[in-house]
Amino acid sequence: MNEAFRGEVPDFHGRVGWACPSNIALVKYWGKRGKQLPQNPSISFTLSECCTETFVQYEKADGFGFKFFFEGQENPAFGAKIEKFLLDHQAFFPFINQLHLTVESHNTFPHSSGIASSASSMSAFVMCLLDIENQIVSQQFDFQKASCFSRLASGSAARSVYSKMALWGATEAYEGSSDEYAVPLENDIHPIFKTYHDSILIVSGETKSVSSRAGHALMEGNPYAPARYAQANENIVNLLSALKSGDLDTFINITESEALQLHALMMCSNPTFILMKPNTLSIINEIRGFREETKIPLCFTLDAGPNVHLLYPESEAEKVEHFIKDNLAAYCVDNKWIADHVGDGPKKLL
Ligand code: PMV
Repeated sequence: MNEAFRGEVPDFHGRVGWACPSNIALVKYWGKRGKQLPQNPSISFTLSECCTETFVQYEKADGFGFKFFFEGQENPAFGAKIEKFLLDHQAFFPFINQLHLTVESHNTFPHSSGIASSASSMSAFVMCLLDIENQIVSQQFDFQKASCFSRLASGSAARSVYSKMALWGATEAYEGSSDEYAVPLENDIHPIFKTYHDSILIVSGETKSVSSRAGHALMEGNPYAPARYAQANENIVNLLSALKSGDLDTFINITESEALQLHALMMCSNPTFILMKPNTLSIINEIRGFREETKIPLCFTLDAGPNVHLLYPESEAEKVEHFIKDNLAAYCVDNKWIADHVGDGPKKLL
């Protein structure tokens, strides 16, 4: 990884911009230790349409200055979160003490869609910061460092900086993997996975009753935690092999089991909590019935919320989209879903 720049910032100003996608985990990260380190490795698809676009204006100054605008309006609450992240990690970004930063950010997915924006927003901001550092000391863009800093801001953000798929967390099954940063999996997956669609069925757009942060913390007292971490490690080994060979049956088994385990862990935390809604279960049953009947390799995953992510290869897109319209849209808020697919990772906008 490139060293953090610690010298005198030149008298300069400018503007950088990056778009970063959200990602959806197949093997889930649920439970952390130390400084945002995962209790088990996780694997995700990088999405394409669900992005955060962030622009940062920078100017040399005598001390640190910071303003944050979200969708055109100053947003002190979110700004305070990012400012705290920067101040807590000054050792990683020492040059910010000589800059005034004005950040403008917006999401390409709708408000109240229940889609978590922390992975895309934090990684987009970190990409901008590293870009500014690169303007001071000209160096190659360091994606490992981007992943590491994104992780410090929001765990799952570590996986948003790579194209197609990423693995975050140390596992003997993958050389070079690390708890500190994610690594790209693009070169180790069967081409079918590069065509995958993720249709996100919006079952509820309400804010979650329990945040991810609180959910992670509850894993500490969860009596099933050791068994969960062992199982996640085993799922990583088997999923890596299925991703390589294109074994869709194993992919489906592991992906659905991981989604249900995540929610089972919530249901046996103390206190217990439930983020699924009745329509989440109805959709899951419909998907299983459709797969049984048609043999189309459609499966689902869930994030920490009630919305259902439908995963399927491009070759089945037409049939699955009919199925969504005819059978699943009625379970969604205003019959809405978001059509996303596996994407190419961060994009430089300026
Ligand atoms: O990155 P966080 O702290 O919001 O946690 C994300 C947890 C899950 O989305 C449920 C799983 C994952 O690996 O993304």
